[in-house]
Amino acid sequence: WETPAAMLLMGYLLGSLPFGVILTRLSGAGDLRTIGSGNIGATNVLRTGRKGLAALTLLFDLLKGAAAVWIAHAVSPNDVLLAAVGAFVGHLYPIWLRFRGGKGVATLAGIWLALAWPVGLVYAVTWLVILAITRLSSLAGMLAAIAGPFAAVIVDRWELVPVGLAFALMVLWKHRSNIGRLLRGEEPKVGGSRASAA
Ligand code: G3P
Repeated sequence: WETPAAMLLMGYLLGSLPFGVILTRLSGAGDLRTIGSGNIGATNVLRTGRKGLAALTLLFDLLKGAAAVWIAHAVSPNDVLLAAVGAFVGHLYPIWLRFRGGKGVATLAGIWLALAWPVGLVYAVTWLVILAITRLSSLAGMLAAIAGPFAAVIVDRWELVPVGLAFALMVLWKHRSNIGRLLRGEEPKVGGSRASAA
């Protein structure tokens, strides 16, 4: 059991790295958790007005999910799903931030791209298309997460469906305040003028 546990822990520690908080602080823009929605993801970094920093956050949050899968694949291929779950849970509940983490959209993109790139492609396209049409980052992320397990069915990766459904449910749970705002028509759009959202 040592290797599976080590892969789970490796994934968790990688996923726990809060790049949004780290990069925002390093850039001198303050504590991301006191800005906008308070979320630690790229969308909220964008609310600091620093587009490059938001892009870097997106990239690093994505890469940490992919890296966990790649490392497990190299060390112990049977445990890639454990590493993926570890990275996802690490981003959502990071030990460094007293378990108050992000909503998982970028990290899940990296996980899917590394686990099964066609699923990752469907995920990324869903995310980008919905974002381009609606400018609602939360809606785009949730629909991408829901698309994941469906895409796994389409590409005949049935073994990934249960974990994909679990990931999607956790993304929805983490977006519960966004869902409330979306239903009330109060969710701020990316690039819009409203900068605050709890
Ligand atoms: O990936 C996070 C995004 O879906 C929502 O972020 O800051 O608008 O709650 P935020």
